[in-house]
Amino acid sequence: MSVVAVFNQKGGVGKTTTTFNLAAALARAGRKPVAIDLDPQGHLSLAMGVKSVPGSQSIFSYFESGTPLERLVREVPPGIRLIPASLDLSKIDALYGADQGITRRLQGGLAEAGWGGAMPVIMDCSPMLGVLTLNALMAAERVLIPLSADFLSLQGVHRINTALDVLERKTGKQFLRRIVVSRYDARRKLSFQIYRELQETYPGIVCETRIHESVALAESPMHGRDIFAFAPASQGATDFRLLVRELDAVGFFTG
Ligand SMILES: Nc1ncnc2c1ncn2[C@@H]1O[C@H](COP(=O)(O)OP(=O)(O)OP(=O)(O)O)[C@@H](O)[C@H]1O
Ligand SMILES: [Mg+2]
Repeated sequence: MSVVAVFNQKGGVGKTTTTFNLAAALARAGRKPVAIDLDPQGHLSLAMGVKSVPGSQSIFSYFESGTPLERLVREVPPGIRLIPASLDLSKIDALYGADQGITRRLQGGLAEAGWGGAMPVIMDCSPMLGVLTLNALMAAERVLIPLSADFLSLQGVHRINTALDVLERKTGKQFLRRIVVSRYDARRKLSFQIYRELQETYPGIVCETRIHESVALAESPMHGRDIFAFAPASQGATDFRLLVRELDAVGFFTG
């Protein structure tokens, strides 16, 4: 099922930027993606121009009162169906962390909505491995790990891969997983070294496409626009076009 979690326990590595622009690229190709903002910070919602969402209209309402996911969707340009976050999400661990079966709630909701086949679902995770991120990983069949091209990021990949291995053993499913290097600076030797080291350590799962450090990518969310609307001729737009093509070729957004 084309249910994708964009996940990395390290903060500020490009998870939200990646989720936004992948969803935008899919929407522009007429693929009707559903983007779910699972981060209490609500950055994905903000980047998509959606502010100050009450809990009753955010993904929180699904966890709190079982509101069907279809009722929480709103359409944002360029044709992305977004389920936004709200501040209440920060209470989820305290409220439901001890509930039995809590980590499978979202999986159930997605199945009921019938999404994930021809309608790819992309979930933006927070950097915390709490109830929300676990829900995303339990529901996901694909995991995309954005990784900024710096030394500390590299150290975290092993931990993420191990966590995914554990989940695979527990659930009996196999993630289709990919690492994408973001904030790549072609002028810095370190960027290339990190990319090569990743390829050697994790053969077959590192995307060829790298997302370059780009002013347009940093600025576009401030204007509530995806990179294709904000700067269609930029390196950032080219990178995300290539990334969608590469991930699509391995079935990330189909089936
Ligand atoms: N390729 C890039 N070029 C320039 N700036 C970028 C790039 N990717 C991300 N940024 C900027 O870096 C910051 C962090 O990116 P982003 O919010 O996507 O990371 P994140 O992993 O979602 O962070 P968090 O862990 O807080 O959710 C943002 O200000 C974003 O605009
Ligand atoms: Mg984020």
